[in-house]
Amino acid sequence: MRKLVVIGSINMDVVSNVNQFPQPGETIHSSGTSFFPGGKGANQAVAAASAGADCAMLGAVGLDPFGDTLIASLEDRQVRVKSVLSKEGTSGIAMITVNKEGENYIVLSEGANGRLTEEDVASEVNWDGVYAVLLQNEIPWQTTRYVIHSASKAGVRVWLNPAPARSIPEEVFPLLDTLIVNETEAGVVSSLRVDDAASAEMAADWIIAKGTSSVIITLGEQGCFYGNARGERVAVPAYRVKPVDTTAAGDTFIGAYAAACTDGMETEEALKFATAAAALTVTRPGAQSSIPTKDEILAFMDK
Ligand code: RIB
Repeated sequence: MRKLVVIGSINMDVVSNVNQFPQPGETIHSSGTSFFPGGKGANQAVAAASAGADCAMLGAVGLDPFGDTLIASLEDRQVRVKSVLSKEGTSGIAMITVNKEGENYIVLSEGANGRLTEEDVASEVNWDGVYAVLLQNEIPWQTTRYVIHSASKAGVRVWLNPAPARSIPEEVFPLLDTLIVNETEAGVVSSLRVDDAASAEMAADWIIAKGTSSVIITLGEQGCFYGNARGERVAVPAYRVKPVDTTAAGDTFIGAYAAACTDGMETEEALKFATAAAALTVTRPGAQSSIPTKDEILAFMDK
């Protein structure tokens, strides 16, 4: 079986549910606080493994009470954790507020994610048999940049999800097999306003012209747009679901898409599979706790 590697963040999400977000200076009550394993990297690894991929995670947790819980959560969902390092200090923590529409605000404290170095990657990673590596923007950029160069040199596909949004140096675009962004990230990367399929196509064209092979732009309720350097263009509509918590919907899309492609699924089918996976995630609370299995995704698509 072809392997996937995720190199990225692992966080404990501290989630408060509120009716509506507070105004600056306002104090409000939440209806409760929950602790959910999260982090964009870990969520994408869980989504990929749950969708059937052989997936390994390379990242770091702190030597605090959260560290073991975060590793156990990955293991429970069949993610390989041999390269999850435990480092002095705290784990990454995300303070998340979710309103009754399922929208969120996230304030991130990077913790051990910020201490994942190039040396850590160099000593842990082995590119043999790896189909693709998935990266996000919650570990130091220097480390991510090192992975991009190392993986592409080894002939491994690099899939980058630049979230939280940050611009991408020119030299990096040609090294990326696939760039996966939402509207905001597409806007930051291309400096174009992206809010529908037409503007997504313009941003995708801009990114492809910089040398990236494929681009996926997720558009929330408007579905997603795919373009590649061979001129293929695909738009997939979103499912209509009642949102409970949108946290990790994008991560689930990416992990499920990566798993489907690694398994040899055609692009359009993989996009539909990923769209269904993300829709299910939105209907459940929490990050990793909300990510569906392959059977759940297929059953949902059959309905
Ligand atoms: O994408 C969702 C994730 O972003 C959360 O799980 C949180 O940890 C932040 O990293």
